[in-house]
Amino acid sequence: MPRCRVSLSTMIFLVILQGAAVVLFWGWYAQLSPCNSAPSNDKVHVLLLSSWRSGSSFLGQVFSQHPSVFYLMEPGWHVWTRLQRPGARVLRMAVRDLFRSIFQCDFSAMEVYLPVQHNVSNLFMWSHSRALCSPPVCPLTPRNELSNQTVCSQTCDAIGLRVVEEACATYSHVVLKEVRFFELESLYPLLQDPSLDLRIIHLVRDPRAVMRSREQSARAFMNDDAILLEQKNMPAAEVQYQVIQEICRSHVRINERAILKPPPFLKGRYKMVRYEDVARNPLEEINNMYEFVGLKMTKQLGEWIYRVTHGKGKGSKKEAFKITSRNAADVSQAWRSVLPYNKVKRIQEVCKGAMSLLGYRTVNSEKEQKRLDIDLLVPQEPYQFSWLPAKTEHPSNS
Ligand SMILES: *[C@@H]1O[C@H](CO)[C@@H](O)[C@H](O)[C@H]1NC(C)=O
Ligand SMILES: *[C@@H]1O[C@H](CO)[C@@H](O)[C@H](O)[C@H]1NC(C)=O
Repeated sequence: MPRCRVSLSTMIFLVILQGAAVVLFWGWYAQLSPCNSAPSNDKVHVLLLSSWRSGSSFLGQVFSQHPSVFYLMEPGWHVWTRLQRPGARVLRMAVRDLFRSIFQCDFSAMEVYLPVQHNVSNLFMWSHSRALCSPPVCPLTPRNELSNQTVCSQTCDAIGLRVVEEACATYSHVVLKEVRFFELESLYPLLQDPSLDLRIIHLVRDPRAVMRSREQSARAFMNDDAILLEQKNMPAAEVQYQVIQEICRSHVRINERAILKPPPFLKGRYKMVRYEDVARNPLEEINNMYEFVGLKMTKQLGEWIYRVTHGKGKGSKKEAFKITSRNAADVSQAWRSVLPYNKVKRIQEVCKGAMSLLGYRTVNSEKEQKRLDIDLLVPQEPYQFSWLPAKTEHPSNS
């Protein structure tokens, strides 16, 4: 009877061969697999939480242009504009749930806010996202190059959002900028979700500068203002102060929650950034933010940041959402020569608590306001809020 005989050495050889093949194929598979570059569990999710006219478009670009970032500007806009005459309080959870889906690169929740037949261009300010101007969404901008919004909006676009999900899945960081969160509590489930690694960058700005900037494009904010003020009726002249008061209160609410008595899942996940510090030391501040979320500064981005923060002119006549090259440090002081003192006084009254918490000095006369050599920014220490009294500042008159 013929017996199938294999010598021991042949056997060992075959086992080794098979082992090598397994390792080889596993390596190939890992390289080819689209998940390899950024397994979704390793993704970092960043919420750029800010308010209107606080420099968040610029900061959004700082993240959007980074080759490792998938960025979207204000997804909450879709929620706020699609539902009829609501208030901010009832929309909070809808915005939160939309964010959870997008962080997970699932755009099905977004689709209900869009027309039935929709394109990438139906996403609010879509061309501000470098990722939506890059492959696989659009061949225009290689991922490691800076994108040009104008050219992108003219040449890119795609039908449906599947390609957006596909793109999102390939990035290590998903960064969403939003101006429609006024508290942190609704975000707790996201912070505790084991599938998310959420970091919150809270960008604040001197409310007097915010007011001055909002006045330049007041009509752009009518709908948002009504929602923020829960559709309350009030004299038009009063709206701006009520809005700025709400914004100031939210800064206090958010910052105190995160700094004074943070729940354990919030520790190390919150970073407050003042617009004025970014304007004074753009590269240093942006480096710190990158580090906070685990991104590396590139030479190209460093040069671009320098360029856009050291441009010429005060940029006073610009569109509501345009980022222009101008001297950021100049712009952050412009309110001091433009706003009448009585208005400044009123803002200081409604924002008293927030200004002292965030380190903005008040002025006590028109003369003081106009004297630009008087620095109104309280320097930030590494542990910036240790000098605060432990008791809660009365948020009701913030
Ligand atoms: C989407 O793009 C297609 C083809 O480019 C176009 O025909 C259609 O009108 C667009 N739809 C919307 C909702 O913009
Ligand atoms: C974008 O491209 C347009 C057209 O080529 C050009 O005029 C504009 O200066 C570019 N913008 C930036 C910010 O580079």
